[in-house]
Amino acid sequence: MARKGLIERWRARLPVSAKTPLISLLEGETPLVPAPRLSAAAGLPENAVWLKVEGANPTGSFKDRGMTLAISKAVEEGAQGVICASTGNTAASAAAYAARAGLRCAVLLPAGGVAAGKLSQSLMHGAEVIAIRGNFDEALRLARLIAEDSGWTMVNSTNPYRLEGQKTGAFEIVAALGRAPDYQFMPVGNAGNITAYWMGYREAHARTQSGLPKLMGWQASGAAPIVLGRKVKNPKTIASAIRIGDPVSWKRAIAARDESGGHIGKVADREILAAYRMLAREEGVFCEPSSAAGVAGLLAWSKAKKFPTRNRTRLRVVCVLTGNGLKDPDTPKTMSYSLCTISASPAALKRVLKGGRRGR
Ligand code: F0G
Repeated sequence: MARKGLIERWRARLPVSAKTPLISLLEGETPLVPAPRLSAAAGLPENAVWLKVEGANPTGSFKDRGMTLAISKAVEEGAQGVICASTGNTAASAAAYAARAGLRCAVLLPAGGVAAGKLSQSLMHGAEVIAIRGNFDEALRLARLIAEDSGWTMVNSTNPYRLEGQKTGAFEIVAALGRAPDYQFMPVGNAGNITAYWMGYREAHARTQSGLPKLMGWQASGAAPIVLGRKVKNPKTIASAIRIGDPVSWKRAIAARDESGGHIGKVADREILAAYRMLAREEGVFCEPSSAAGVAGLLAWSKAKKFPTRNRTRLRVVCVLTGNGLKDPDTPKTMSYSLCTISASPAALKRVLKGGRRGR
């Protein structure tokens, strides 16, 4: 069957009409991959944990789900250009979809705070890339201020179409598992995605009684405003995508947590990097550090013995891996890994290979 973009696939459940132009790069329908080693590491049955690999989207992150709709609606409404503040992925996605639509796109990035791959994407897609001397929260305030009185359409998650598009992740998971999972672990930054998933799961449940997961959101310890219950002025974490101190969808994330009976917690950078490495080495899935925050949360949850012990054979747990590891080529270099340079001779190569497998 020919691949469809997500607006075509879920048209009846999205705010589009026959007049809405379709700006799509055939996003969505990302793999839901079983994770037997992660299941074992979490002390759960082999088939319990599944990875929703959102890095398989066209620009390498879940942002494409919301952007196809936000940009299609911006074109329908006659926008001249779109603007966003971003820790990198929203910018990369906005730049690509705006290029596709022939719209101007301005992206405001915290100077020095964006992974190299994401910056390259925004530049290559022809966005007007503006580095702000400040953090993401300051860049977002600036974008909102300017957008209001200058006719640029905001494509941050303040734009309701972004969340409408992102809710389709929940529809796909329900379709793949035949029901909602019992738990969903995911990173939380600006808190749009956890809000969107809750919308999606509720809508799916209203139609087909597919059940509702407990939503388990994870912030980095140095950027955990929702956990602390107060804004964080200088958020700090290696996970630059979720380096956010004043999330836009704060209240809605708390509602998603409470209505689902879930939890929003924090994990240390050390735990994030351990999960990032574990997924790459033992499951063969390379995500970006921020995406690994949800997996670090899963491992912390199981270590604290918080999963019920009954009915474990039916337990289904999804971790949303929000972005592709290739976006951030620099973090792996800060970790130990095995790279040796030898002369181009068979003897030298044999000597190295005799040493056995290294780097675990
Ligand atoms: N994971 C990745 C890879 C992200 O890029 C983001 C957010 C999140 C998780 C958190 O999602 O904000 O919906 O809670 N990135 C935004 C950006 C802020 O500008 O790309 P959230």
